[in-house]
Amino acid sequence: MPKTTARSTAEDSKPVSGGSKPIAGNSEQGVHCEQGVHHQQRVHLEQGVHLEFDKLLDICTRLNAPAPVEKILDELLHQTRKLLNAEAGTVFIASCEKLSFVCCQNDARPDLCVAPSMSDHLRSGLKGITLPINDASLAGYAARNGQALNIDDAYGLPDDVPYRFDRSYDERTDYRTRAMLVIPLIDESERTLGVLQLINRVDNERGAFSERDRQIALALASMAAISIHNAKLRDELRHAHLDTIMRLSAAAEMRDDDTGQHIRRVSMYCETIARAMDFSHNFAQLMLFASPMHDIGKLAVPDAILKKPGKLTSQERLVIEDHTRVGAQILEGSSIELIQVAHRIAESHHERWDGGGYPNKLAGDDIPIEGRICAVADVFDALTSARVYKPAFSMDKAYAIIQEGAGEHFDPAVVEAFLRDRPEIEAIHEFLGDEAGKSPTAVPSTS
Ligand SMILES: [Fe+2]
Ligand SMILES: [Fe+2]
Repeated sequence: MPKTTARSTAEDSKPVSGGSKPIAGNSEQGVHCEQGVHHQQRVHLEQGVHLEFDKLLDICTRLNAPAPVEKILDELLHQTRKLLNAEAGTVFIASCEKLSFVCCQNDARPDLCVAPSMSDHLRSGLKGITLPINDASLAGYAARNGQALNIDDAYGLPDDVPYRFDRSYDERTDYRTRAMLVIPLIDESERTLGVLQLINRVDNERGAFSERDRQIALALASMAAISIHNAKLRDELRHAHLDTIMRLSAAAEMRDDDTGQHIRRVSMYCETIARAMDFSHNFAQLMLFASPMHDIGKLAVPDAILKKPGKLTSQERLVIEDHTRVGAQILEGSSIELIQVAHRIAESHHERWDGGGYPNKLAGDDIPIEGRICAVADVFDALTSARVYKPAFSMDKAYAIIQEGAGEHFDPAVVEAFLRDRPEIEAIHEFLGDEAGKSPTAVPSTS
């Protein structure tokens, strides 16, 4: 490996000794003076060690904080660059036998920086970049072999090394990579989770990194790997919860809706309305994932009534209306916020603003806001969908009916927000049409 500079941790932290002479006076004074100088050096060293220890502690705390995977990777890149004076760096995440680009930081070229949160169209030349996990690139080699590379001169790699440096990014961006630290992120099960690349150390002419830099980067990377592994587990668990909710809700819904798209549309309408009403991101997400359960009580309605094509008797209507109470019973008593919201929605989505709804004949603000939002979304979707007893109404007609219902059937503030975000509502309707053949159980994306 073309490593030229290698200093060990032990060498770096070795106390300075020798080379300092007594400055004047007799030998006793000289000894005192020499002792004084040594003492001062020791104090400086200890202060330096403390400072470095504090920095490392701070980095550990930041990397251990629960956060999404991409945020942890961004923080890892930021902190290691700061600690090792790297001018630039990139991070890749491993999945499906390839490395996907996550973010790029570059102090010399802010125009090349890409944050994980940036939308795709701002990711310029890095959009969708993936690398195969093989020896054709430094990152691919490090990921495949679990080996950290400390490269002094990326353009001067000897022919006999088993990896290659890809110059295409430099050529495209007019940035000059000189030295690189390429560190695989490996979890405790020896799986490669990603690769961290640090580029060009700024405090020496060649930009080279030392052996000690490599060791520090490795230590931080292995700590970040634990956080990333935990974050992935958290994501999987959350996704599994939401997936289960969507599938159970679809099971109830598909008894009178062949496609099950109704619950997905209602769910996204609810989120859109919540955002339009300036509720928090968290509340909008709760609406997104709790509202699919609004009709879960239909599980208790017999097919003969639920699928009856003709007019319902008053007795049958009462059985149908009872899905609100049954739904509330299924969802009641949970300590989980999402299920608590779902409980309120299931029980109150057929209440009316004027008090003429069911099951509790609540009116106005006594109806939980979650139920008031879902009421608009649910009725709008019923109006714009074909049923055995009616065709799908046009958008204009459905909007007119919702608008007319403000202050009677619906909360006027909810209707106002719903009308304001009409383009988004129409886009959801278009995207999740019954005939679109989408999976009824797919978990909506969390933005
Ligand atoms: Fe309902
Ligand atoms: Fe519904």
